[in-house]
Amino acid sequence: MNGIKIIICKEKIIVKKLNIIGDNRGNLISIEKNEILDFDIKRIYYLFGTKENVSRGFHAHKKLNQILIAVSGSVEIKMYDGNEWSTFILSSPDQYIKIGPGCWREMHNFSPDCVLLVIADYEYDENDYIRNFEEFKKYVSKNT
Ligand code: TYD
Repeated sequence: MNGIKIIICKEKIIVKKLNIIGDNRGNLISIEKNEILDFDIKRIYYLFGTKENVSRGFHAHKKLNQILIAVSGSVEIKMYDGNEWSTFILSSPDQYIKIGPGCWREMHNFSPDCVLLVIADYEYDENDYIRNFEEFKKYVSKNT
């Protein structure tokens, strides 16, 4: 069983706690389609070795859904859905954030050991990005 505890649930942002299957050897987390993943995975990537004081992201997507998990270390995720900012610190491998389309995201304060895993429902497509915040605000006001 997975996705047992909802921490934040908004239209475009879901933060949940994952179920840890632990025993005397250590921990295991399993993520299965239909419980947490409600999309077919087309891409997985991960950010690691992020240099000190580097922030990343600063974009929104038009159609992409993503699940973010800090499998190691921690990172601060700031998100703006067009109405309000939300901030969540991913600091444990048993937490994930699902970010839907039309949501600006920024990643700050990566710990040196952070490995941020991203699971996505489309391949990389630069045309799906909105990288300008003013453009994003116009886009989101037209599309919601
Ligand atoms: P970028 O969008 O700047 O990353 P972030 O939003 O995390 O700051 O991506 C960095 C480079 O990597 C850029 O040239 C695009 C490329 N890239 C891919 O080729 N495939 C991918 O899946 C992603 C996320 C990026």
